[in-house]
Amino acid sequence: MTPNRREVLSGLTLTSAAVLLAGEAHPMSTLAAARQESAGELAPAYSGQHAIAPLPFDPKKLRGISEKLVLSHHENNYGGAVRNLNKVEAALAQVSKDTPPFVVAGLKERELTFSNSATLHELYFGNLGGEGGAGGEIAKAIGATYGTLGRWEEEFRATGASLGGGSGWVILSLELSARTLRTHASGHHSQTKAAALPLLVMDMYEHAYQMDYGAAAAKYIDAFFANVRWEEVERRYARALKAAEALGS
Ligand SMILES: [Fe+2]
Repeated sequence: MTPNRREVLSGLTLTSAAVLLAGEAHPMSTLAAARQESAGELAPAYSGQHAIAPLPFDPKKLRGISEKLVLSHHENNYGGAVRNLNKVEAALAQVSKDTPPFVVAGLKERELTFSNSATLHELYFGNLGGEGGAGGEIAKAIGATYGTLGRWEEEFRATGASLGGGSGWVILSLELSARTLRTHASGHHSQTKAAALPLLVMDMYEHAYQMDYGAAAAKYIDAFFANVRWEEVERRYARALKAAEALGS
């Protein structure tokens, strides 16, 4: 049965949206893998067995972002989120009516933080390793939405710079209900626009650039744009439009 608009909206969190986007071309978390292996079936809750997806590009070949930084980012920050998510899920599987509420509250907060961190890192690494030049339907769509591609990039860069020295994510998304493209910033892993599908993700936590650039976040933003794999953004965009159609927007 086709879900109605309300059912789709109520079930669409960033994490589930990102799972929708998990493609066949690149290894993703076990949530995505489970979906691919048994189409139509849902992955069990609290499996605690999410895998760390390998980098989908050669870390030696990024321009302006060092191999040392990328490997540390992947292993310590992304990998740490996946490992912690598995531990939190194992604890959540043991929650009962007798578990103290403050314990449950802490676990649920950490579940959201680690699961969003894992998903956003997979999307971030997934949209790196390219040549940096936007093209195709996604470039046309951004230009049509923002006036010009350059105008969008100016705002996306400014949004990233506004988070420099702190932490957060910058995400170009397809807003499902309004059917438009929009750049959002998130100061934490768990603060982001609901019912929107991420297309282009930029990590602005200091661990994404401090090792190479110190506090010079603007240089990292230049390097990020030099390495964007727009083919992946294009693929996400095509799939996201189908989800927007499912909402009837
Ligand atoms: Fe990160």
